Amino acid sequence: MAIWIPDLSNRDGPKYLRIVEAMAEDIATGCLPAGTRLPPHRELAYQLDVSPNTTSRAYAEAVKRALLKGEVGRGTFVRSTDAASGQAEPETLRRRESGPIDLSRNLPMPGLSEQHVRRVLSEIANETSLPSLLDYQTDADLVHHLAAGQTWLAHCGVSSELECIVPVVGGQHGIMSVLMALLQPGDLLLAEALTYTPILTMAARLDLQTGAVAMDDDGVVPEAFEAWCREANPKAFYLTPTLQAPTTVTLSKERRARIAEIAAQNGVILIEDDVFGPLKSNKPAPLAQIAPETTIYVASLSKAVAPGLRVGFLKAPTKLASALHQSVNLSVWMTPPLTLEVARRLIEDGTAGELTAQQQRIAKHRQNLVQSILGIEAVPNLSDGFHVWLPLPEGWRADVFSSECARLGVHVSEGRSFAMNASDAPEAIRLCVSHEANEERLKRGLEIAAGVLRQKPIGSSMKI
Ligand SMILES: Cc1ncc(COP(=O)(O)O)c(C=O)c1O
Repeated sequence: MAIWIPDLSNRDGPKYLRIVEAMAEDIATGCLPAGTRLPPHRELAYQLDVSPNTTSRAYAEAVKRALLKGEVGRGTFVRSTDAASGQAEPETLRRRESGPIDLSRNLPMPGLSEQHVRRVLSEIANETSLPSLLDYQTDADLVHHLAAGQTWLAHCGVSSELECIVPVVGGQHGIMSVLMALLQPGDLLLAEALTYTPILTMAARLDLQTGAVAMDDDGVVPEAFEAWCREANPKAFYLTPTLQAPTTVTLSKERRARIAEIAAQNGVILIEDDVFGPLKSNKPAPLAQIAPETTIYVASLSKAVAPGLRVGFLKAPTKLASALHQSVNLSVWMTPPLTLEVARRLIEDGTAGELTAQQQRIAKHRQNLVQSILGIEAVPNLSDGFHVWLPLPEGWRADVFSSECARLGVHVSEGRSFAMNASDAPEAIRLCVSHEANEERLKRGLEIAAGVLRQKPIGSSMKI
C-alpha cells in the first residue's frame, strides 16, 4: 500500500493539528483503515515538507486522541477499536479545532498555565520532599497547604484563620462536601431560581428538598429569601453572588448585606460559590467576609488557574470546619497532596495571581468581541468572566434558537438548563467565550449566533 499522505489544503491552525484532523477524517471515512501502519514520522515530514518535530507532535496528539497506538519496535498503527472509526472519542471538554463550535461550556482559556505547571512539576520531581507528598498526610504536612489556601482566599477578598480552611478537590467537591456534612435527608436547600444545575442533582442524591429563590435584573431578591424563611425552614442557601451562574449579575453590596442579615436571623447557612469571583474586578466584599459566621465560602483554582489541578478551598465558620474536614475525609480521604503542592507553589510565587489576570484580560477582550458582533442592543452591558447571558428578542423560544444554532454548527446553552423549576425557564441563551481556544472559531460562532438573532423568530407564527 502506498504511504499515507494527508491532504492539508483548506485547513487552518497549527500544522501538526492539521495533520491530526486530516488523519481523523481519513480514519472516519475509511481511507485509513484500522490496523494501517503509518509511515515513520521523519518520512511523513519529508513527504509533507515540514519539520520532523511537526509530524512527531502530530503523532503524539493522535495517540492522545486515541486515533493511533504505538507498538514498541513495530511502529505506529491506526487503532483497531471504535476509536479508529472516529466515534470513540468520548464527549470531552477538549478544545477542538474542527467540527461544531462550542459556546456552551464555561471553562477557562486553555493553555495559559501549562508552562508554569510544567516548571513546578519538574521542581517537585527533583526535590527531596517528593516522598512525603506521596504519602498520607499528617496535620503538620497540611499546614503549608492551608497557608496557601489562606493566600488564595485573601486574593478572593476573604480573610481566614488557618483552622477555618478545608482543601477540597475543586469547587464541585467542596459543595458536595458541605451538603454531605451539614444537611440531612429531607432538609430544605434553597438556590437562586436560575442556578448551577449540578446542585439539583446533588440535592436529589442526598434526598434534600429544594426551593427556588426568585431573581430580578439585579440578581437574587432578598425579600424572596426572607419569604422562604418565613414559610418554610430552609437549612442552607446556595448562591453565586459574583458573576452569577448563569446570568452574570454581581449582587450589590446592599443585597449582600440584607441576605447575610436574613440568614443570620433565621439560622440559615449560606453556601457562597465564588469559583468565578477571581475573574471579576471591583466587586463588593464576598458574603463570607461580611458574615463569616453564617457563610461557607467555596473557592477554586479551576477558572483562574487550571481546572485539571482539581484544587479548591472551603472557608468555614470556626464551628463548622471540623465537620467539613470529616466530610472530605469520608469522600476522598484527603485532597491529593501532589496537586495541592503544585497549587501552593503557583499561589505563593504569584503565578496564580498572574494567570488570573491573564484570564481576566482575555475574557474582557472576548466579551468586547461578543458586543461588537452581536450588537449593543443584544448585549448592552459587558460583564467580566467567560459567559454572556442573552435574553432573546420577543417571539424567540430558546429551544428553537439553540436548535437553529446547532443546525448551523454552533452549540449554545438554553436558559431552561439552569432553571430550578421548568416553569420559570427564561427565553434566554448562555454563550461562553473561552471554550473555543481559537479566536477565529469564536468569531465565526458569534457571527452565526448573530445571524440567527437577526432572523425573524422561527416558528413564532405557530405560537399562540
Ligand atoms: C458555578 C460553578 N460552581 C462550581 C463549579 C465547579 O468548579 P470546579 O472545577 O472547581 O469543581 C463550576 C464549574 O463549571 C461552576 O460553573
